[in-house]
Amino acid sequence: AIERTFSIIKPDAVAKNNIGAIYNRFETAGLKIIASKMVHLSKEQAEGFYAEHSERPFFGALVAFMTSGPIMVQTLEGENAVLAHRDILGATNPADAAPGTIRADFAESIDENAAHGSDSVASAEREVAYFFSAEELCPRTR
Ligand code: CMP
Repeated sequence: AIERTFSIIKPDAVAKNNIGAIYNRFETAGLKIIASKMVHLSKEQAEGFYAEHSERPFFGALVAFMTSGPIMVQTLEGENAVLAHRDILGATNPADAAPGTIRADFAESIDENAAHGSDSVASAEREVAYFFSAEELCPRTR
């Protein structure tokens, strides 16, 4: 089925000028960017987005990192988009990510792992809505 998923290019990858290289991975995989913008998250925005991790020991470091510089947020659309996106991202820890995946090629550590992708259709709906209004989504007819 055609799905939507949510993507973040994190501060490390933006700082390394890897936005275009990562967008190329999405498009090569058949994922269409239907909304996109650069944002610099406030602490409150980062805490809200990652609320499910608030009790984890890495939460403070995660929020500090995600507010350390601008990020790119995207909505991607395509066949089986949630899993297709996670496949090309590779494992959360770049040390475990398969060769040729985004995290293997662009990330240095589990804390600074270049990109985020929704883990389910339900999370994707919440995450897309966290950043984009309905009017900002531009579904493709061709
Ligand atoms: P992300 O997909 O953005 O979701 C939460 C982030 O927390 C994750 O990617 C990692 O960058 C970061 N993180 C740090 N330590 C861990 C951990 N032990 N398990 C999962 N995520 C972690």
